[in-house]
Amino acid sequence: MGHVVAGAVFRDGRVLLAQRTRPPELAGRWELPGGKIEPGESAEQALARELREELGIEVRGADRFGPPVQLGSDLVMCAYRVDLVSGEPRPLDHAALRWVDAKELEQMDLVEADRAWLPALRDMLAG
Ligand code: C5P
Repeated sequence: MGHVVAGAVFRDGRVLLAQRTRPPELAGRWELPGGKIEPGESAEQALARELREELGIEVRGADRFGPPVQLGSDLVMCAYRVDLVSGEPRPLDHAALRWVDAKELEQMDLVEADRAWLPALRDMLAG
């Protein structure tokens, strides 16, 4: 079973979403940035690596929230709240980035899998 980590970075009452460029069926839709855990990595290490590669930022921590999401038969994905340590996010691997508040979150065309985290994200943006 492979594991995918997705990171939620919060700032000023907003969460950072990223717009996918691939595959074609997901291009244009929004997600929490992340990717697969490589052998020997912890979730926190994988998040730090993926967000460094994709956004050019340094993050720390991995506070899991919401339900795990099954992706096909051999991938499971979990969401984590991470702390932004340094850097300003840039879309190095995405079409665009957007900081959204609770209201804007409702309007975003999220990839199906990430919709499982909407209730938890709403709570965190409200609180
Ligand atoms: O980004 P990447 O293609 O490496 O992600 C691996 C898998 O996890 C893909 O199937 C992708 O659709 C899925 N994914 C997702 N939601 C995310 C991040 C990845 O559904 N926030």
